This record gives sequence, C-alpha cells and structure tokens, in this order.
Amino acid sequence: MQTKVEKMVSKKVTIILISVASLILFATICGILVGVLLAQNSNSQDCAINPFEVSLHPIIVLSGTSNFLYPIWGEKVLRFKHGEAVDFICPGRTILIGGSQTNNSLLSGTCFSGSEFAVGNEIIEWSDLICSSTYWRGIQRTGNTCASDGVELEAGFSVDDGRFLQTLLICFNPTLQVAYYTFINQTASINQQVLGTARPSWLQGSGIYDVGSVTSLYVRANQRATINGQLGLEANSTKYIQDSTNYYLARGHLTARSDNFYAAQQNATFYMQNIAPQWQTFNGWNWNQIEIDLRDYASENGVDLQVWTGVYGVTTLPHKDTGEPTELYLYYVNETRKAIPVPQVYWKVAYNPLTQRGIALIGVNNPYNSTFSKLCFDVSSRLSWLHCERENQILGFCYACSITTLRYAVNFIPAMDVRGLLL
Ligand SMILES: *[C@@H]1O[C@H](CO)[C@@H](O)[C@H](O)[C@H]1NC(C)=O
Ligand SMILES: *[C@@H]1O[C@H](CO)[C@@H](O)[C@H](O)[C@H]1NC(C)=O
Ligand SMILES: *[C@@H]1O[C@H](CO)[C@@H](O)[C@H](O)[C@H]1NC(C)=O
Ligand SMILES: *[C@@H]1O[C@H](CO)[C@@H](O)[C@H](O)[C@H]1NC(C)=O
Ligand SMILES: *[C@@H]1O[C@H](CO)[C@@H](O)[C@H](O)[C@H]1NC(C)=O
Ligand SMILES: *[C@@H]1O[C@H](CO)[C@@H](O)[C@H](O)[C@H]1NC(C)=O
Repeated sequence: MQTKVEKMVSKKVTIILISVASLILFATICGILVGVLLAQNSNSQDCAINPFEVSLHPIIVLSGTSNFLYPIWGEKVLRFKHGEAVDFICPGRTILIGGSQTNNSLLSGTCFSGSEFAVGNEIIEWSDLICSSTYWRGIQRTGNTCASDGVELEAGFSVDDGRFLQTLLICFNPTLQVAYYTFINQTASINQQVLGTARPSWLQGSGIYDVGSVTSLYVRANQRATINGQLGLEANSTKYIQDSTNYYLARGHLTARSDNFYAAQQNATFYMQNIAPQWQTFNGWNWNQIEIDLRDYASENGVDLQVWTGVYGVTTLPHKDTGEPTELYLYYVNETRKAIPVPQVYWKVAYNPLTQRGIALIGVNNPYNSTFSKLCFDVSSRLSWLHCERENQILGFCYACSITTLRYAVNFIPAMDVRGLLL
C-alpha cells in the first residue's frame, strides 16, 4: 500500500508529466501553424489563373515559347512562379486591357501575384485581358516530308514575331488528297476541356488541294451522285447514301474537336485536311466511343499521350451490274483521275512517351459489309477501358492491336520505341 506522502508525490509527478506533454503539444501545433503561414506567404506571390475565365482570353505561353500550357493533372488552374515571364497572344487580332485597345497582338508580362500580371509599368488582372475577336487560325506547310511522299502541314496560330503555335500536325497525301494521319499532344487534363463553344466554319486553306471545293464534294446530293456513278447506280439512288438517316458520308474528324483543350485548338480541327469520308453510323457511335475511351483513359490515369489518328485503305461496295467489289472515292472523274478515298478503316495510335507504352485502336468504315479482316492481332480483350461494340457491323467493327503489329500493315505509322501495351 502507498503512504499518503507517496500518493501525493506520484500525483505531483503525474501533473508535471501532463504539463510537459501539453507544452510539447502546444509547441508542435505552433510550429505547424507558423510553417503553414510561412508556406502560404512564400506562395502568395505566385500566380494561379483560370484559363477559361472569359471566352476570348489571349493565349498565354511561357515567354518566347510556342507550346500551349495546361493545368497540372487534378487541378483546374494554370500556375506561374512570381516573376515568371509569359507572353499574351491574340493571333491576328489585338489585345484589349480592361476594354481599352493596346493595338498589339503580342504583349509580354510577368506573374505578379494571384491572378495579376505586371505588363509594362502596370499591374493588370488576367480577367481584364481579352482579344478583339475570334483568333485568326491558319494551315501551312512546315517544309518537312512524312510517310515517304507525304507533305507535312501544321494548323494553328501565327504570332507577330514569327512564331507559330502548332495545335495539329498533319501528314497529307498529295496524290489521294487526304491525310495519312494527324498528330496532337493530348493532355492528361483533357476531360476538363472547354465544351459547347460555337462550331467554326470549315476551311481548306489555299494551295493544298487540287479538287476544288471539298465542302461541295461532301454535300449529300453530290456525294450520292459521285458514289452511285462508281457503282453503276442511278445518280439519285438512295440505296447507300440515304436521305435523313445516318447512312451517308460525314466529314469524319481525324483529330477530334474534343481531344483538344482550348476553344482555339478545337477550332483548328475544322480543316478539310483533318477529315476523311466516314459513314455517320460509325462516326457517331463506335468511333466516337473510341475517342471518349481514350480521353477517359488519359484523365483517369493522369497520362499525357501522343496521339496519331489516320486512315487506311479504300472501302468497297458491290457494283450494280457485275457485283464486283468497287472502290469508292469522293472525287471521281475517271479511273486515273480520282481522289479522297472512302477509307477502309480509321485508326488511332496512342503512346505514353514516359513509359513507352502504346496501343493502336482500329474501326471499320462500312456499315453495308458484314465481313472484314483484321489488319493485326487483336488484343482488345485485354483492354478493360475500351467500350466500343466490337461485333457491331453498322456502328463499325472495332478492335485493338499493338502499335508494332499495326505498323506491319500500315507502314507509314511513325516509328517509336514501344515497350508494351497501354493497359
Ligand atoms: C491604337 O490605335 C488608335 C488608332 O490608330 C489610336 O487612336 C490609339 O491611341 C492607339 N492606342 C494605343 C494604346 O497605342
Ligand atoms: C507536342 O509537344 C512537343 C514537346 O513539347 C512539341 O515540341 C510539339 O510541337 C508538340 N506538337 C503539337 C502538334 O502540339
Ligand atoms: C472558335 O470558333 C467560334 C465559332 O466561329 C468562335 O465563336 C470562337 O470565338 C472561336 N474561338 C476562338 C478562341 O477563336
Ligand atoms: C431519280 O430520278 C428519276 C428521273 O428523274 C426519277 O424517275 C426517279 O423517281 C428518281 N429516284 C429517286 C429515288 O428519287
Ligand atoms: C467486304 O469486305 C471484305 C473484307 O474487306 C472484302 O473482301 C469484300 O470484297 C467486301 N465486299 C464487297 C462487296 O465490297
Ligand atoms: C481522266 O480525266 C482527266 C481529267 O479530266 C483527263 O485528262 C484524262 O485524259 C482522263 N483519262 C482517261 C483514261 O479518260
């Protein structure tokens, strides 16, 4: 049994221990608080801006560079360090600050703090920066070749100092007057892209096509007459190109509008060089699903992907008299003068350069033909994220392969080091 004195002593010891513990706890909490405050203080001079705050913001890039900036995966803002130098660009237009004209399409600034930038001697709010109107977009030759006889084109935005902000790279086949493939960098933040902005008009640039107006070739009555002519049908027969259904040849985007983050980049997909004749039954369903699946894959896994989208082969339908499989072209004068084939397949190659893993996704472009042969060994059963209806003839048969095996069939797919599948 403890004596009264011993009890008192042990009580005192307990009280002292509790006090010491409280002090330590108090000091720790204070330390954490000071740390947090200091951390906040050191960040308070940095910038974070909403890239979509107003619809016609200037494009913002790091000073002197030509690459679009995206939020870090999982964030919604663009971040800059205090003092970091940036360029504000309104391609072919002028920049207004708080409604007043600067008469410049390019201004340099530095991050001041929060959503404020130092421009000249002034501190301005990001939300006060706006372009005078819709950016001027363009398409031009880069001077490079591709795919043996291909002409490389870039679509995007010219800067007054000679820079070109590339959004879409196109390898164009001048003989067939259609792309071999197009290329974009697809950000991991892609599912936070701007949606629902107005569709711009289709452009075809100048000096690239030699088949006249491509828009007019796609007009339903015109494509019907062209296709029917090749198949020996009456010009107005609705056997294949129907009225008011999805059985017609749509302007099938290679690089999809929604695979791009900014409205400016989305607008730059509206070039004829970025499309091929695609049955709407396929365009609106399985091919659309493939595009969605790839964006979802990137955003769920946080990966920036390099994405090539292309076409291959010429699809056929039976000739009315002979039943012979007949190749289809959207531009047809005679057997030696024909262009813009209706592709047999659309393909997408997605590649993660950090892990060197990639995948090829393929869709068949012919709702009227129940048979098809795969171009490469199908690994689609291993892709839990691919949701197109694989066995659906009308929506477009679809499958997946390794990039390497698709390249055996489609030999113009650019070379890259592949270590494994994008699973
Ligand atoms: C912009 O140009 C207009 C017309 O030439 C002129 O009146 C105005 O002062 C200019 N503004 C600036 C900021 O240079
Ligand atoms: C893709 O990203 C690379 C590296 O940042 C860049 O050099 C290239 O211009 C980009 N291409 C396109 C089409 O955006
Ligand atoms: C994109 O195109 C639409 C339709 O022409 C236009 O309203 C919009 O301002 C364009 N966006 C940009 C950033 O140029
Ligand atoms: C096609 O045109 C012919 C001659 O003008 C007409 O007799 C026929 O009914 C038309 N067919 C269709 C499907 O419109
Ligand atoms: C249907 O597609 C198969 C496989 O591509 C092809 O061999 C066949 O000729 C096509 N049929 C017609 C009538 O075009
Ligand atoms: C095909 O059409 C082109 C252009 O009209 C013409 O120059 C050429 O002689 C035609 N070829 C044949 C084999 O009819």
